[in-house]
Order: sequence, then structure tokens, then C-alpha cells
Amino acid sequence: MRSGRLPPRRLRLAKTQNLEDVRSIATRRLPVAVNDFIEGGAEDEITIARNRTAFQSLTFERCALTDVSRRDLATTLLGIPVTMPVGLAPVGLAALAHPTGERAASVAAASKGILSTLSASSCWSLEEVAAAADGPRWFQLYIWRERSVTEEILERARAAGYTALVLTVDVPVAARRERDLRNGFEIPPKPSFRHAGDVLRHIGWFGRLAIDEAFGHGLTMGNFRSGSGVRKRLVMMDVVNGLFDASVTWQDIEWLRSVWNGPLVVKGITTVRDARHAVAHGADAVWVSNHGGRQLDGLPATAEVLPEIAAVVGDSAEVYLDGGVRRGSDVVKALALGARACMIGRPYVYGLAAGGQAGVERVLDHFRTEIDATLALLGCPSVHALDATYLR
Ligand code: FNR
Repeated sequence: MRSGRLPPRRLRLAKTQNLEDVRSIATRRLPVAVNDFIEGGAEDEITIARNRTAFQSLTFERCALTDVSRRDLATTLLGIPVTMPVGLAPVGLAALAHPTGERAASVAAASKGILSTLSASSCWSLEEVAAAADGPRWFQLYIWRERSVTEEILERARAAGYTALVLTVDVPVAARRERDLRNGFEIPPKPSFRHAGDVLRHIGWFGRLAIDEAFGHGLTMGNFRSGSGVRKRLVMMDVVNGLFDASVTWQDIEWLRSVWNGPLVVKGITTVRDARHAVAHGADAVWVSNHGGRQLDGLPATAEVLPEIAAVVGDSAEVYLDGGVRRGSDVVKALALGARACMIGRPYVYGLAAGGQAGVERVLDHFRTEIDATLALLGCPSVHALDATYLR
């Protein structure tokens, strides 16, 4: 379809020039409390801001007159070929942004030849996502109090073709996300008289939710629809504090290793010490992450700690980074600092809110265009050639 004949929503998406344009559509589409849940972080949100300023304060060192007539963005992640060094981070309850949620995100990732990681707290079940998307897929998990629940879900993930397990280690308890506490945020969000203006402004969102609740999945944790004790109406802090096991230690990784024999990625690493622990306990990859500033506020930016972690474990494990990656140039900077790939969380949720699968695809196109342009302007023909000499 030529762009002049696109329906207005698709046209608005097609006109976006960068992620910020997509984000502004998303913000308009979402009720305030939902937008706050996605955008917000712990306490003073210092770590969220720091993730961004760390990228902004890095500057490039350009190589003039290098042959950049062909640029290579393709790489592999734990042996899986992908078309660019960007993957989807796990985002729980992504159907808050759009009813097609994780399923659409995973289909979009597959259509662009990149990796997607499904959160165990997804609205669509891991089997539904696997049936829809045939691209590279990993599965993310927290260790639950009930070890049998963990074992059972791992068995299902293996059977459904998720090739690696991502264990998130930065949520021993739920952080205080004060925007959510102030908003009385629950899942599904309740239209209230107090927020009548917001409900009216986002009547389309509430209408879609009502239809989805009546005829579709509704907003619940799809992997636990039967028999898990997850109630229909959820308060995130209660869910986390009720289900997650705060007593987990590195020794439990050995137990995990005994029930999952595929590749293991440990997500939520911000120190050299923990990166060493992860590798010593059998991690194939270390995912440098502060949970997008949603857990411990006051952690350093991921771009700040990445170089020392990559220097110490980079020879024995792949190293990925997430947190504040908003531009292709951020990806190039992270690779120059030692990451093999960057993962994005909120950026693809903006895409979902702005246009479902098409919105996520648009976001991924922006990243690809920007990485390609940055490599060309920088004078670096391949993502594999990036190193610290490209940064001042
Ligand atoms: C997350 N994140 C996350 N991480 C995880 O391991 N399991 C999960 O279920 C979730 N859920 C989740 C929900 C929402 C709404 C957000 C925004 C994030 C964290 C995510 O995987 C990733 O670490 C951050 O989002 C990366 O930071 P950016 O890209 O959002 O800045």
C-alpha cells in the first residue's frame, strides 16, 4: 500500500522519524497510570536518568576516508544468527500497551530477523507466542518459591522451542515504584471516577481492554492461567513478593543447571564480582542490566559498568547490555564498550502502544537505519570491528 493510502494510524506511524516520535504517539494512546507503569522506575528514578546521560556523555572518535560502502550489522547470539545486534528484552504484561502484546512483539522481531525474549510474566502464554513467531526466542524466568512451578515452566519452554534461559537476578523483592503506588495501579487498571477525564480521553484503550477481557485473554499472566494461584486482579508488588523467592543464592543456579541443560543467560548484572559469579556458576552470557531503573535506584548506568565487566568476563561469556538504549548510536557505543548486543525494553513497548506489531517493526527499523548510518559516518564497516578506539 502506498503511504498516501495508509489508514491515519498507520500513516502517523510511517511518518515517525525516530523512537521519540513513536513514544509521543504511545503516550497519547495510553491512560496515565499505564504510561506511568511502563515509563516509571524505583524511588527517585535516578538510575533511569543516568542510563540516558551515560550514553549522551560518550562521544565518538571518527575514522575518515575508510571504505564504508558496505556495512555489516549481522551477528550471532549464543550461536543464533541475527540481522542486527539488538534484541527484545523481557517485558511482563506487555498486553497493557496493546492487546496483541508479547505475541505481536515476538512476530515483529521474527519478521526483522532479531531475537526476542519472552517474560515468564507475559500475558500471552509461551506456547501461544511460540506458535505465532518462528524467529529466535529465549525465555526469561525468576526463581519462584515453588520450585516445582519453575521446573514445570522450564519443561514447557524447552518443549515450545525456546533455546536459552534468561535468569533475572535483580528482583529479590519488588521495588517501590512510587508512580504506581500513587496511582493505585492494579492489573487490569480499573476505570475510576477520580480519573474520569483520563478514562474519557482514552476510551479506545478501555474499550479494547473490555473486549479483550470479555472475549480474549484479558490482562493476566498467560503462563499461569490454570492452577497457579495467580488471581485475576493483580497488584504487581503483591505478585512479586508473593511468588518470588527472596532467599535464592548462587547455589540455586546449580539446581537450575540440573533442570535446564540449554544455554543460560544471567540478567541483572552490574558488577564485576557478580559477573564472575555468574560465569563460575555456568552462565554462557552475562546481561548487564539495572532493570531499566525499575529495581534498585542509585545503581550506576549500565553503560558505565559495561567496560569493566566486558574486560573481565568477555573472553568466557557473551556480554549484553540494556537500559536507556534509545538510538542506533547508543547501540554502536555499547558495542564499542564491549557488548555483543543491546536489548531494548521500553522502546518496543512504545511501538506496541503506537501500533501493535507494525509499531514494533517501525521501532526496529529506526534502530537498524540509525546503526547503519552511525557505522557509515563513524568510518566503521562492521559491528564486529567496533572497539574502544571508536570512542574518545
Ligand atoms: C521490564 N523488565 C523486565 N525484566 C525481566 O527480566 N522480566 C520482566 O518481566 C520484566 N518486565 C518489565 C516490564 C516493563 C513494563 C519494563 C519497562 C521492563 C526489564 C526489561 O527487561 C529491561 O531490563 C529494561 O526495560 C531495559 O531498559 P529500557 O530499555 O526500558 O530502558
